[in-house]
Amino acid sequence: MSEVFNFSAGPAVLPREVLEQARDELLDYGGTGISVLESSHRGPEFIAIHEEAKANFRTLLNIPDDFAILFLQGGASQQFAMVPMNLLREGQTADYTNSGSWAQKAISEAKQIATVNVIADTNEDRPTRVPDAAALKPTPGARYLHFTGNETISGAQWKTFPNVEAPLVADMSSEILSRAIDLKPFGLIYAGAQKNLGPSGLTVVIIRKDLVESAREDIPTIFRYKTHLKADSMYNTPPCFSVYLFMLVTRWVGERGGVAGIQKLNELKSGRVYSAIDATEFYSGAAVKECRSVMNVTFNLPTEDLEKRFASESAAAGLQGLMGHRSVGGLRASIYNAFPLKGVDALVTFMRDFERRNG
Ligand SMILES: Cc1ncc(COP(=O)(O)O)c(C=O)c1O
Repeated sequence: MSEVFNFSAGPAVLPREVLEQARDELLDYGGTGISVLESSHRGPEFIAIHEEAKANFRTLLNIPDDFAILFLQGGASQQFAMVPMNLLREGQTADYTNSGSWAQKAISEAKQIATVNVIADTNEDRPTRVPDAAALKPTPGARYLHFTGNETISGAQWKTFPNVEAPLVADMSSEILSRAIDLKPFGLIYAGAQKNLGPSGLTVVIIRKDLVESAREDIPTIFRYKTHLKADSMYNTPPCFSVYLFMLVTRWVGERGGVAGIQKLNELKSGRVYSAIDATEFYSGAAVKECRSVMNVTFNLPTEDLEKRFASESAAAGLQGLMGHRSVGGLRASIYNAFPLKGVDALVTFMRDFERRNG
């Protein structure tokens, strides 16, 4: 089979080396004669995987000791609800920014539970953008400020984070581990694993321990951060295979210069695609330049017909998953950490060739 490059927005490309290792030890993990898929989560093999996963992640993101790492389920979507359920009490308010489809979902969910102030809204802006961090006017006494670090669908990303008194809460599903972050202003970061961390089924939460301590307890046990912190993310059966692959992915990132090394490569990769877009009038970027996502490059062609043809011809050429999200159309190249540079070069070559034939 000829080489395929997977531009899917998620579940997304995983490092080849990680998949190969998982394949090699699928039937017999570490000489145990059984698979990770059938091992007890209380057994020594899985406990070692779990511990290494946490330790590697802490090292990669330089997570201080006053933050806990939780491995949960339910996806980022469950965090849309768990965050306000845990952190907001009767009469309290949280600030949210609306930068696109995912932020909107987080807001809608929080509104079911608590009072939410949307203090900036760029959801409808075209070209797409995220709010200006420096211009935000937080609500006095707001318990936290929520934002979506990278809007996977529109391809707009925060380059500088809000600087407010309240702790920041961020959905970093489609950018976690792609760049270094200073955790000081943060109270909580959450991410579904299926873009940069591993397969779906695992949701990683980084949370300041004092926020867990002061969180609500009058909510169902399974939804309390406290439950999961106390049980070291083993309150119920964890998504063992996802945690195992996540552990292998953290090793893989470590072997590539850690987050700093990966960040450099990500900038090189996205830079090449954006240069190809900017080199001609035929292509136009969907996001304003200062908000362009390093992970999800969104762009348009002169007509919808050409976009459809681009998507189908590129797929036939082994460049799969370039069709934009159904809600916004256009094209989208998701080039997460594990996406190879040679796949980016293949896309750029295809773009030039497609324009020559259709421009
Ligand atoms: C930024 C962002 N937030 C939330 C989600 C929803 O994640 P999940 O499917 O894990 O609930 C996605 C999924 O694509 C996403 O990209």
